Amino acid sequence: MSVPTPHISAAKGDFAKTVLMPGDPLRAKFIAENFLENARLVNNVRGIGGYTGTYKGKEVSVMASGMGMPSMGIYSYELFHFYDVDHIIRVGTAGAIHPDLKLRDVVAGMAACTNSSFVKQYNLPGDYAPIASYRMLRAAEEAAKEKGVDLVVGNLYSSDTFYDDQTDVIPRWQKMGVLAIEMEAAALYMNAARAGKEALAICTVSDIPLTGEGCSSEERQNSFTQMMEIALETAIRL
Ligand code: HPA
Repeated sequence: MSVPTPHISAAKGDFAKTVLMPGDPLRAKFIAENFLENARLVNNVRGIGGYTGTYKGKEVSVMASGMGMPSMGIYSYELFHFYDVDHIIRVGTAGAIHPDLKLRDVVAGMAACTNSSFVKQYNLPGDYAPIASYRMLRAAEEAAKEKGVDLVVGNLYSSDTFYDDQTDVIPRWQKMGVLAIEMEAAALYMNAARAGKEALAICTVSDIPLTGEGCSSEERQNSFTQMMEIALETAIRL
């Protein structure tokens, strides 16, 4: 398929080799306006604003993934396959599963478990383990260290449901040492693997589902800034 795609109206070459993907389109706009220089709008199909600008002189793009694996699946596929994007960094929020995690902690998904059937398209003769790019993970760890942020690295759980009929889902993943629940990383990692490209998901802990705790909007903003700085400093190391 050529560009534009069914979901992205940008021209070839409009995206940088590295794209940051928050879930929320308004977050993408905020990142473009507050963290990038000379950001220009390159897509606005369905209100999914895509922006390309520079960070410390390096070209970086930002575009929302939307919520959930089908949405992340579409946008990351089109970026990797039709816009020649090489690296995608998800910058999202997650609910803590691991008891040691606190609100506003920043976690990087070394891998992502999932209840999604996304993997079935590959018809593999066993269970697949979606993993992050080791190179990107190392770059993120280095960037976090430089910022004095304690980046927590481990397993994420990418869920197809935000409202799940089963009430014991989180304790069961907790027993396996999983850090946090979100809804996109596994699809991103699988698309990257299949495309021969690289991806990493970084999330700030916005809530603790087991206790019902959540961040205020101000707390969310501060931890979001830390995560963005780590993501951008990762981008310039690639
Ligand atoms: N569940 C799923 N996705 C999330 C959550 C959650 O509790 N918090 C942030 N993203």
